[in-house]
Amino acid sequence: MPESKRVVVVTGGSKGIGRAICLRFAREGARIVFLHYDPDDVAADETLKLLQDRGIEATTKKLDVSSFADVEEFFREVVEEFQGLDVLVNNSGITRDALFLRMSEDQWDQALSVNLKGAFNCAKAAVRFMVKQRSGRIISISSVVGQIGNIGQANYAASKAGIMGFTKSIARELATRGITANAVAPGFINTEMTRNLPEKARDFFLNQIPMGRVGEPEEVAEVVYWLASEGASYITGQVIHVNGGLYM
Ligand SMILES: NC(=O)c1ccc[n+]([C@@H]2O[C@H](COP(=O)([O-])OP(=O)(O)OC[C@H]3O[C@@H](n4cnc5c(N)ncnc54)[C@H](O)[C@@H]3O)[C@@H](O)[C@H]2O)c1
Repeated sequence: MPESKRVVVVTGGSKGIGRAICLRFAREGARIVFLHYDPDDVAADETLKLLQDRGIEATTKKLDVSSFADVEEFFREVVEEFQGLDVLVNNSGITRDALFLRMSEDQWDQALSVNLKGAFNCAKAAVRFMVKQRSGRIISISSVVGQIGNIGQANYAASKAGIMGFTKSIARELATRGITANAVAPGFINTEMTRNLPEKARDFFLNQIPMGRVGEPEEVAEVVYWLASEGASYITGQVIHVNGGLYM
């Protein structure tokens, strides 16, 4: 299908990696719907304007991906309005860092609800339509931390490791339905999420990256875009690491 006809849903598209993903798909003229859950609409409006300035048919909605019912209704609306759904990018994510000894039940639940249950909710709602059209691409953003763990991030690491297992399982189930599912695991990327890290933690990570620099959101977006392209038609159930060599 020509790119300009594809309908792409990106969760967490207001800023950071999600915004870069929206803009990467926009370069090909795709139709884009992105979700966000920021306290205000400033970043989302900015992304929307960037897309519309490029002549892209785009909309956004403030919606918590951890709400199963809201997500289900949202996807129904998208399919009704855009008459299809071709690509889902599960990108929404939060951190609720604390050392394990001090981690509260609430911190655990919040990270798991947004990062892992959110991906389940969106994939579940999207797949219903993708199965009918016998095609679809699901790309979920994991993290290097899901592979190697991290001090202060037991909840986040569990959610991101969960994304890998989830992706591989649905990839197996959906392979004969024309739907691929892959994960992208970024390392240390230059976004608000990492800009807020204490300098000591930043330096610790930087020292372990063979390329000696943080990654840019666009470098993650490029891989996501490619996984959704025709060139990746025989790739499913994979975790692609984008981390400057931090984990090999
Ligand atoms: N920045 C990094 O170094 C890095 C590394 C590895 C993985 N990741 C992952 O990449 C993804 C994007 O990270 P980022 O750094 O761009 O983050 P960010 O904080 O810049 O953006 C997060 C996005 O998620 C949205 N979001 C948050 N809670 C939500 C909810 N409940 N429902 C819907 N949307 C919600 C926000 O509105 C925002 O659009 C996340 O899944 C993150 O875990 C980031």
